[in-house]
Amino acid sequence: MALKLAVFGNPIAHSMSPLIHQHFAKLHGHEISYERLLVEGSFKEAADAFFSSGGLGCNITVPCKIEAYEFAHELTDRARIAKAVNTLKRIQSEDGKERYIGDNTDGFGFYSDLLRLNAPLQQAKVLVIGAGGAARGILPSLMSKEAALSELTLVNRTVSKASQLLQGLDEVLLDRSEAKCRACTFDDLLPDDHYDVIINSTSLSVSKELPKIPDSIYTHAAFAYDLYYTKTGSTVFTDKASSLGVKACFDGLGMLVGQATLSYELWAGVRPDIGATLDYLRSELG
Ligand code: ATR
Repeated sequence: MALKLAVFGNPIAHSMSPLIHQHFAKLHGHEISYERLLVEGSFKEAADAFFSSGGLGCNITVPCKIEAYEFAHELTDRARIAKAVNTLKRIQSEDGKERYIGDNTDGFGFYSDLLRLNAPLQQAKVLVIGAGGAARGILPSLMSKEAALSELTLVNRTVSKASQLLQGLDEVLLDRSEAKCRACTFDDLLPDDHYDVIINSTSLSVSKELPKIPDSIYTHAAFAYDLYYTKTGSTVFTDKASSLGVKACFDGLGMLVGQATLSYELWAGVRPDIGATLDYLRSELG
């Protein structure tokens, strides 16, 4: 029987998740159904209806990740740290009751994409722009011993959000590296500051706007990554970085596929390869 899967959010019509998961299923010879479900009222009602009609698992996107976190009976450590759930799976407990496991695969998707792209992380100075939900998802991996950064600067329009985010993560992360972390506002960034890697986690690229960082910050960087993705593979942020000489510039499509591989593993028991599906998506989008 086909695995019944879905993605919930609002808006949802643009979601690439069905294309990605259908491609995973094709690669592995699985049969799945994967629908886009628009959530206009409560997420809980929509999810209850889906699971009671045989749903096995779902992805959750903006703005339902917090409601999905509250919906889950059990959470992975990743979801607990992110305080948001992007993947749910229905399981049956020993007493025969339905239970839902909540996971958050966004951080894994991001980090595995950086590894795939050979981002120069070890002993690097990294600038993360933006301190919203997207930043919360990616910061634990950047602050981990494995990434081994030397410095992490979190710049945000609202500096208090950046400080609270760093402080909150400091309290819960178990594998925190020795990296020096600081929060600042855009005015605190100086033209002479040097960052090896710059990451845009704000929502600015959606409206084709740029974060207010000095041009010289791009000039000094070796690697630029935007969590937003486009059909062409470039965003206003990666275009700007590229025009100022950054050699390695990437949009977030690889992160999207990366997070999907881990969700798929939770439901189907195998983790698909990122590269094959990424090539397929680029050709479909192109
Ligand atoms: P959410 O916080 O709702 O999860 P997000 O997309 O993860 O949403 O985060 C939005 C990020 O983009 C925030 O860092 C936000 O800055 P503030 O915390 O100061 O609001 C940033 N952002 C959005 N519009 C911006 C703008 N015009 N200039 C600078 N930063 C902006």
